[in-house]
Amino acid sequence: MVVTADLTVDLLTPEAVADPYATFGRLREQAPTVWSETHKAWVVTRYDGVRRGFTDAVRLSSDRLTPYWRRLTPERADKLGTTFELLRGWMVFHDAPMHAALRDPVRKAFTPRQLDRLRPKIETIAEELLDGMAERGEGDFKAEVAFPLPALVIAELMGVEGSARDQFKNWSAKLAAIVFGESDHPERDERAAEGAAEFVEYFSWLIRRRREQPGDDLVSALLAAIGDPAMAGGVADGSAVDGAGPLTDLRLIGACTLMLFAGHETTTNLLSNAALTLVRHPEQARLLLENPGLTDLAVEELLRFDGPVKIMVRAVREDHERDGVRMSEGETVYLAVAGAQRDPGAWDRPDELLLDRPADRTRPGMAFGQGAHFCLGAALARLEARIAIPAALRRFPKMRLLTDDVRWEAQILGRTMIEMPVAVHG
Ligand code: HEM
Repeated sequence: MVVTADLTVDLLTPEAVADPYATFGRLREQAPTVWSETHKAWVVTRYDGVRRGFTDAVRLSSDRLTPYWRRLTPERADKLGTTFELLRGWMVFHDAPMHAALRDPVRKAFTPRQLDRLRPKIETIAEELLDGMAERGEGDFKAEVAFPLPALVIAELMGVEGSARDQFKNWSAKLAAIVFGESDHPERDERAAEGAAEFVEYFSWLIRRRREQPGDDLVSALLAAIGDPAMAGGVADGSAVDGAGPLTDLRLIGACTLMLFAGHETTTNLLSNAALTLVRHPEQARLLLENPGLTDLAVEELLRFDGPVKIMVRAVREDHERDGVRMSEGETVYLAVAGAQRDPGAWDRPDELLLDRPADRTRPGMAFGQGAHFCLGAALARLEARIAIPAALRRFPKMRLLTDDVRWEAQILGRTMIEMPVAVHG
C-alpha cells in the first residue's frame, strides 16, 4: 500500500461535511491509514483497522485529557482547574485501571431494570412529541422530536426534575467548547468554567438529596453501587472504589455529566439521521411499516448507513507500526467509524440501505465503538430508537422534506444535521 504524501485529508471541506462517505471511501481505497496534516492526526478508514484500533488499549490510549492539560498555560490551567477535575470523572478519557474503577459502578447501576422502568416513559414522551408535530403539520423534526426526546429520557433516568432540565442544555453548551474544542468563542474558558461550576452545584445538591432519600434513579443506583458510606449512615464525602482511589463527589458529578453528554447529541443524531434516511428511501420505509418485526434489524442498519458518529479519537501510547505506517508516541489517531460502516470488505453492497440486512455476529457494527469503552448506553439508545422510529413512521407515513438541501454541522466527530424541516401530513 502506498501512502501518497500529497493526499490532502481535510474532513471539514463542504463536500466532506455533506457526504463523509465519499471522502472515507476514497481514503479506504487509496490510503486506509494516512496522516492528515490539516488535522495533525492519523485517519483510519477500513473496518479492520478501526476495529483493531478500538481494541488495542496497549498501544492506543483513550486519555486525550492529560496532553490537553499539559499544553495549557498556567493562567488557563488556573481558570480551568474545576473543569478538568470534573472531566477526569469521565471514564471515556481513562485507560485501565482507572477506567474500570469509573465504569464498573455505572455498569452495575445501569441495569435492565432501569431500562424496563424507562420503556413506558419513552413511549409516552415519543407520542407527546409526535402529537405536537401532528398538530402543527410542519416543523423541524430534529428540534421538535429528535433533540428533546433523549434529553427528557436522560433527565428521567437521572431523576432530574423541573427547571434544571431546561438549564442542562445551556450548561452543556458551555462545557462543550472545551470537551470538543469546537468553539472559538473569545470567552471560551470562562464559559466552560461557568458551565462546570453550574453542573457541580446542581449535582452536589442532587447527590446530597439522593443520599438522604434514595429513589429509583441512576444517581441513587450509582451511590448504592459504589457502596457509598453515606447510604449506610457513614461519612458523606466519598468512598474507595476497588482499591483504585477514591470516587470523590467531584468524580461522581463527572460521571453524571458524562451521561448527559454521551447520551444526548448522539441519540439526537441517531433519531434525526434515521428519519432523514427513511424519508429518502420510501420503499425501505414502507417495508418497515408493513413489517414491524424488522425493527431491531432496521435500527442496526440505520446506525450503520448514516449513524451518529463519524470519528472516535485515540492517542498513540508508544511508537509502533500499524497498517503499514509508523506511529509515534503522542500522535492523535482518528478511528473513522463512518468509514468502517461502509467498507465493502465488511459489508455486502455497503452503500445500499437494506433494513432487513441480516445480523452477522462476526462483523459487528461500529456505531457504539468496540472493546473496553463499548458504549454503556447502547441498550438505552437502541430502546429509544426502537420505540421512536416506528412510532414516527406509523404517525407520519407521508412525511416529506421541505428542503432539497439538508445542511450538516462542520464537525469532525459527529454526523449532525443542522435542521430537518418537514411536512408530516403528505
Ligand atoms: C445512538 C446513540 C449513541 C451512540 C452512537 C454512542 C456512541 C458511543 C461510542 C462510539 C462510545 C465509545 C467511545 C470510545 O471508544 O472512546 C460511547 C461510549 C459511551 N457512551 Fe455512548 N453512544 C450513544 C448513546 C449513549 C447513551 C444514551 C448513553 C447514556 C445515557 C451513553 C453513554 C456512554 C458512556 C458512559 C460511554 C463511555 C464508556 C467508556 O468509556 O467505558 N451513550 N458511546
